[in-house]
Amino acid sequence: MVNSKKNVCVVVLGDVGRSPRMQYHSLSLAEMGHTVDIIGYGETEPLNAIKTSESIYYHFLLAPPRIPQKLLNYAFKSIWQALNLIFLLFIARKPDVLIVQNPPAVPTLLVCWLFCLVVRCKFIIDWHNYAHSLMALSVSKDSLLTRITQRIEVFAGRRADHNFCVTNAMKEDLYKTWQIKATTLHDKPPEIFRPIDLKEKHAFLKKLGKMYPQLLSDDGSTVFTSEVNDEITYKTERPGLLVSSTSWTEDEDFSVLFSSLQAYENHIVEGNSRKLPELVCCITGRGHLKEYYCQKISEQNWQHVAVLTPWLEPADYPSILASADLGVCLHTSSSGLDLPMKVVDMFGCALPVCAYDFKCLDELVKHGVNSYRFNSSEELSKLLLDWFQNFPNDEIQMETARKFKTELEAFQNLRWRENWSRIAAPVFN
Ligand SMILES: *[C@@H]1O[C@H](CO)[C@@H](O)[C@H](O)[C@H]1NC(C)=O
Ligand SMILES: *[C@@H]1O[C@H](CO)[C@@H](O)[C@H](O)[C@H]1NC(C)=O
Repeated sequence: MVNSKKNVCVVVLGDVGRSPRMQYHSLSLAEMGHTVDIIGYGETEPLNAIKTSESIYYHFLLAPPRIPQKLLNYAFKSIWQALNLIFLLFIARKPDVLIVQNPPAVPTLLVCWLFCLVVRCKFIIDWHNYAHSLMALSVSKDSLLTRITQRIEVFAGRRADHNFCVTNAMKEDLYKTWQIKATTLHDKPPEIFRPIDLKEKHAFLKKLGKMYPQLLSDDGSTVFTSEVNDEITYKTERPGLLVSSTSWTEDEDFSVLFSSLQAYENHIVEGNSRKLPELVCCITGRGHLKEYYCQKISEQNWQHVAVLTPWLEPADYPSILASADLGVCLHTSSSGLDLPMKVVDMFGCALPVCAYDFKCLDELVKHGVNSYRFNSSEELSKLLLDWFQNFPNDEIQMETARKFKTELEAFQNLRWRENWSRIAAPVFN
């Protein structure tokens, strides 16, 4: 291949540190020998590899001041962002290729398209979701704002030199609805989401035990793990650890998990033939329905299921995922065409999940191969009962869990790099 180093501009109208995907694009581009200018907000730290890379440069957008009136604020913010973005685009090295994240579409897509036209550079859009379907959630489906947003997306998408998107379902939808051709690049989790060893689990569970003393045992270890002469082992009788993260909003129906936990409790209380462990269910996240459900849970007075709703530091969130035995995801997507990042993160920790099924979830969650999908709380209940039957000593279940973990580890390793070199690299040359 000819050595053709390019200047690539990566635009995110959001916090770069919380846009793992645009960071991975940048790293992959740098690995190919290109020079990268990232334009975005700098609220959180980006990946170390980005900070230390000699061919990746940063240009920060300034957060717009807030105006209390909603519509006025939206208009003002858009103009502010447009001017700010134009300014930085001209300050950065003149790009040969520009790749911009959508959503948000306003004002980024128009500004970037115009800029590329003026400086004659290649214009690429990376579709993470639809801006108009997100807009429809906050105003309404047929409001003017939603329609304008959609027009802008379609306009820019048709004029882009290339489009990437996050799922095959989105690729098909882009083509069917708007004749926009795109190629799929599936997401990968940030590096901090990785499997951890028993020692790290033990340390984390002890830390969690400081908040919840019921997780500690009398010998100074935890109810899950023992420490004898510096050696950490799992207890042969231990509770199952279930984890879920939710924003406690109406679009994630928490009552589904709630009913399944109730069924689990009933199963033990009624003395059914299955042997089941006690269950610790950790639910992280904040939102306005949290109080309501916590109240409801404490009224149930479950004896065999403990629900914890800890507030975790960001660095502890990957640890709880990596320490759990099973994850639960209740997310459904605004467009039905993007995949839940929380499952991607759980998979990064090699944590199998039970995920609420929707249109394109099978691109990530392969039922019975790397995890499970469900359509109802009855199905979730059955999955939980099966997963934790005779836990942790059931040969068949242990084998399934091992198989899932192997699948997840292999899948994560392959996901980004190979497909990026094969599918994305040529687009930048
Ligand atoms: C959930 O329901 C949909 C639509 O009826 C179906 O296609 C899908 O296979 C179901 N998922 C599972 C895991 O049974
Ligand atoms: C890479 O892309 C191809 C074609 O889009 C897809 O079939 C394959 O599953 C992808 N591989 C991974 C590991 O995501």
